Amino acid sequence: MPSFVTDVEEIRKRAAQKIEDGAVTNTYQGDVEQTISILNDALATEIVCVLRYMHHYFMATGVHAMAVRDEFKEHADAEREHADKIAERIQQLGGKPDFNPASLVQRSASQYAEGKSLSDMIKEDLIAERIVIEVYQQMIRHFADHDPTTRVMIEGILSDEEEHASDLSDLLFITDPRSGETEGEDPGTHPLDMRSDERSRQQRGAQQSKARENTGVSKGNNRNRKKRAAKI
Ligand SMILES: [Fe+2]
Ligand SMILES: [Fe+2]
Repeated sequence: MPSFVTDVEEIRKRAAQKIEDGAVTNTYQGDVEQTISILNDALATEIVCVLRYMHHYFMATGVHAMAVRDEFKEHADAEREHADKIAERIQQLGGKPDFNPASLVQRSASQYAEGKSLSDMIKEDLIAERIVIEVYQQMIRHFADHDPTTRVMIEGILSDEEEHASDLSDLLFITDPRSGETEGEDPGTHPLDMRSDERSRQQRGAQQSKARENTGVSKGNNRNRKKRAAKI
């Protein structure tokens, strides 16, 4: 036993009390009820993010839609994993994860915004990620060393959110390197019109060639963007 543990007998005695509290010991320095409340708000935020990304995944259309759809799905899956981790921590602390759909949007820090075009969707997701980044930074400062387990969990989630924001920033650049606007719809990838006649294929080919030319123009500026452009 390390020498900094001065009274192991006292610790053993305390550990044997209130064993029904599980992971929450007398020495937990945070306010358990407040932590559960904060985490339930984070849970609502993650669920709203899953819903928004899934809507965008199914509705993404246009010449760049295929690459962007995959990213939306990947992010939706990551947000779902975040929700699982947060719900598990709430349960560990003796609370109940609040999945009540009636109050989800009110409790969520991020908004549910559909977006009219592909670039709108990317912008809405990027704004939501930037909101979540700021909120989680505040949570990390709040938990500090009062609840290191919750803090470390939020730190891990924050790192994913920053990666999401960076990915979205690259995707916004790809939709149009100058303005972030999409350049028109690809008839062959529209979910409500999946006709693939010869004319559609020809139009799609012409649009994709134009998109490749455009993404190639400004490749030198950013290593990540270069990497993303190569995927397209
Ligand atoms: Fe998340
Ligand atoms: Fe995210």
